[in-house]
Amino acid sequence: MTVLSIVDLTVPRGGRPVVQDASLEIPAGQVTALLGANGAGKSSLVLAVGGILRPTGGSVRLDGRDLTGRRPERIRRAGLAVVPEGRRLLPDLTVEDNLRVATFALPPAAARAGRTRAHELFPELDKRLHIAAASLSGGEQQMLVLAQALVSQPKFVLIDELSLGLAPVVVQRLIPTIRAVAGSGVGVLLIEQFATVALGLAQRAYVMDRGRIRYSGTADELRDAPEVLHSAYLSQT
Ligand SMILES: Nc1ncnc2c1ncn2[C@@H]1O[C@H](COP(=O)(O)OP(=O)(O)OP(=O)(O)O)[C@@H](O)[C@H]1O
Ligand SMILES: [Mg+2]
Repeated sequence: MTVLSIVDLTVPRGGRPVVQDASLEIPAGQVTALLGANGAGKSSLVLAVGGILRPTGGSVRLDGRDLTGRRPERIRRAGLAVVPEGRRLLPDLTVEDNLRVATFALPPAAARAGRTRAHELFPELDKRLHIAAASLSGGEQQMLVLAQALVSQPKFVLIDELSLGLAPVVVQRLIPTIRAVAGSGVGVLLIEQFATVALGLAQRAYVMDRGRIRYSGTADELRDAPEVLHSAYLSQT
């Protein structure tokens, strides 16, 4: 089975390791949750896997292929898309042009197939294709951000903060889409501030605390052991 394997990854930032010896397995066709308090190192891990930060130790492998420390374009071409925290659209461009930018590097047939897929996942955007991204609601902007990651039809997608700044009703709208993306065979790593949302979607979950993975188990196990989450979240304060 296809797996994204992160083994003993260490990532320095500002002269100190903010991710230390972190190991995660992200299987295809499932949602895997990554939980942890502010500053735990979740975003740094995602940025290092995506090639934006450089790890000083460990490895990232997709289908056995070593992607450790490769450039972001190379990692994306290998089938790994990243939605970084606080990702911004090109506000003055239309929705359609924002999607076009995201398919720029793809062969024409793949770009067409990817756009079709994006329209299936986010039919709301169809009516908005010709307006500026800046005019979209927060929820529509997040749909467009996700669509930009998914138009390349990646094997794996890492989503950093799905629901940041979104109304609960919008988060509820996105949940079935994330499930559908995983159901189509994509491996999803989901970082999500609302543990109930993350654990409702995920089969497996990891909890990060001060740069280290402190816990991994099934989402059901973690739901039944809230003290694990509480201690990870409280240890920071
Ligand atoms: N640009 C930076 N330079 C130096 N240190 C940074 C930088 N960005 C983050 N850090 C530090 O790295 C550590 C991990 O931060 P990171 O953003 O990865 O955590 P996080 O788990 O994503 O937190 P949050 O839930 O708030 O998004 C923190 O101690 C943070 O202060
Ligand atoms: Mg973060």
